[in-house]
Amino acid sequence: MIVTKQAVLRRFWYAVMPVSLLDEGQQGFTLLGEKIVLWKTAEGKIACLQDRCCHRTAKLSLGFVENDNIVCGYHGWTFDTAGACVRMPQRPDEPISAKHCVKAFRAEEKYGYVWVALDDPLTGIPEIPEAALPGFRQVPEFYEPWKIGALRLMENSFDSAHVAYVHRETFGDVAQPEVGAREVEVSDFGFDSAYDSPVVVRGDTAQKAVVTADGRTVRHTHSTWYMPFARRTAIRYPHGLQHVLITCATPMDNGNTMVVQWVYRNDTEADVASADVVAFDRAVTLEDQLILESCEPDVPLSTQDGEELHMPSDRPGLIMRRMLSQLLREHGETEQRAFA
Ligand code: FES
Ligand code: CO
Repeated sequence: MIVTKQAVLRRFWYAVMPVSLLDEGQQGFTLLGEKIVLWKTAEGKIACLQDRCCHRTAKLSLGFVENDNIVCGYHGWTFDTAGACVRMPQRPDEPISAKHCVKAFRAEEKYGYVWVALDDPLTGIPEIPEAALPGFRQVPEFYEPWKIGALRLMENSFDSAHVAYVHRETFGDVAQPEVGAREVEVSDFGFDSAYDSPVVVRGDTAQKAVVTADGRTVRHTHSTWYMPFARRTAIRYPHGLQHVLITCATPMDNGNTMVVQWVYRNDTEADVASADVVAFDRAVTLEDQLILESCEPDVPLSTQDGEELHMPSDRPGLIMRRMLSQLLREHGETEQRAFA
């Protein structure tokens, strides 16, 4: 599935950046191949326009924000949050026609991140229960581009069989490679999957992060997939610690994905410093990144004979492929393949 060529993907919300980045001024981003510019007004409203001036196509993200509007850095045409040109410095007394405008997109703040939907959204921003629960703190982890297709990371998040091998240096155990097919409970825009797994945590940082004395423990994991490219993985350890990972694989284009990850935990900074929480997930995530960047970015939804082969533990990923295929069909699209 070539993400930039499937129009229905524009009808979902994506986490594009931490909202704090907008305190530094306007920011450019590429979402599903669409170049956008974002900024924040004095009242805290987030504006999002196509990053292309309608005069000579310059990127508005190279301009500046003035009185809640964005000023093009080339000749100063100025656009409001709805994309209307409200000032043409060279012709101050002439009326400006409505065709002088730039396309505007929906943008909202939630969980400390900016979310954008390029077209009329089919479903809401993922609901994360821990964000509203007392006793949980939020720790930002990663905001970084990976050279992968977004669906690869989603599939990997539900792939129990990779842990023993990819994470053999951190918490996997190559002596225990056998995993069964996970049960999956499908909903309209995603699914839930729960399982228990024994883990070995190695290294000082890892032990601090899970607060176990011997480093051997069992993780009870409940994962939710939010179609198309977000997941929540709630890990519960026997002593009550909960570590809830939110990972958004925001598709920039066909081979590049912004990995946006934060966690909620029901302990305190005094129990485990945020830096130690991040350090453990950092080590784990680097292991995933190395392998995933070696995979072809395009994930085939309908695998042609022999193109990719499967095993039972691949089931969650195959359900993702099937549900995305169905989504395309329901919106009159066919799967676009063949990397350009
Ligand atoms: Fe933007 Fe000229 S290109 S004002
Ligand atoms: Co992994």
